[in-house]
This record gives sequence, structure tokens and C-alpha cells, in this order.
Amino acid sequence: MTPDLYLVATVSALLGAAAGVPAGMILRRKKASIKRGAVRIDASTVSGRGAFADRAISSGETIERCPALEVADKDVGGELLNYVFYGNSENLRLVAMGYGMLFNHSPQPNVAYYREDSPLGAELVLYALRDIRKGEELFYNYGDDWWTTRK
Ligand SMILES: C[S@@+](CC[C@H](N)C(=O)[O-])C[C@H]1O[C@@H](n2cnc3c(N)ncnc32)[C@H](O)[C@@H]1O
Repeated sequence: MTPDLYLVATVSALLGAAAGVPAGMILRRKKASIKRGAVRIDASTVSGRGAFADRAISSGETIERCPALEVADKDVGGELLNYVFYGNSENLRLVAMGYGMLFNHSPQPNVAYYREDSPLGAELVLYALRDIRKGEELFYNYGDDWWTTRK
């Protein structure tokens, strides 16, 4: 390779790499939603992130079974207080894993949940209250207390 050709090849390679990094970042940014099973996490219609049906879900179907950690209320503070569920007594809170803590509130919910205690520990089971179309945001009712105890 002559020195001129060598310079052109090097500059081209560097420009290509420089363009590839932002292009990769843009492409990666496009895939913001994440999903597992019937649930996709995406920008909510009411606030921040929310859970959406990634396929049609039938009334009564289990949407997600979340392993949950029961902890003392004194161990939960700050913003985390807005994400945990009530535990088996007044001073206990349930930290649900999986996507369970990302469902938003609606007074007309399409999802409800119950607690189940398996030999492996507490679980929070989320299920459909009615047939849900693919793409609908999934909501459970946080209850009146939830809103009156917060600003
Ligand atoms: C359990 S988190 C739900 C996920 C949350 N949207 C996020 O982006 O991480 C509870 C928080 O979501 C917001 N939220 C849930 N339902 C809402 C609603 N219907 N209207 C306004 N904000 C809501 C409130 O800020 C609340 O503190």
C-alpha cells in the first residue's frame, strides 16, 4: 500500500468505527421495552413505566407469579414505599420480584392479585379480571388507602 492509500484506509476505518458507535447506541435505544411471558414493560399511559399485555390474556389467567420477600416495614423507606405490598401483618411488607411492582393503579383494574405461601416462600400471583387485548396496559387497584396516605 502507498502511504496515501494507507492514510485513506486508516481514516475510513476510523470514521466507520466512529459512526458505528452512535448508530449502535440509537439502535439499542429503540429496544427500550423488555418482556417476559405475557408481560411487556414499556412507557406507561399514566406514569413512568408500566406493564402491558404482550399477547391476548384470558379472564382468570395467571399473568405472573412473583416470588416475594417479606420484610419489616422499618426496612422499607423512601421511594421503595410506593412499590411494596402489604404483608401478613401491619408491620410487614412484601417486595415482589419479577414485574409485579411495575403495574400502575386504576380504579377500573383489569388485574388483581393474591398472596400464596409456597414451601419456597411467599408469592404474589397476578391474574386477569377479564379478557385483555394485546397491547392494553395492565392495572390493579392500589386501594383507597394507598392514595390517601400519600400526597
Ligand atoms: C408501583 S409504582 C408503578 C411503576 C411506576 N409507574 C414506575 O415507573 O416505576 C407506583 C408509582 O407509579 C405511579 N402511578 C401508578 N399508578 C398511577 C396512576 N394511575 N396515576 C398516576 N401515577 C401512578 C405513582 O407515582 C406511584 O408512586
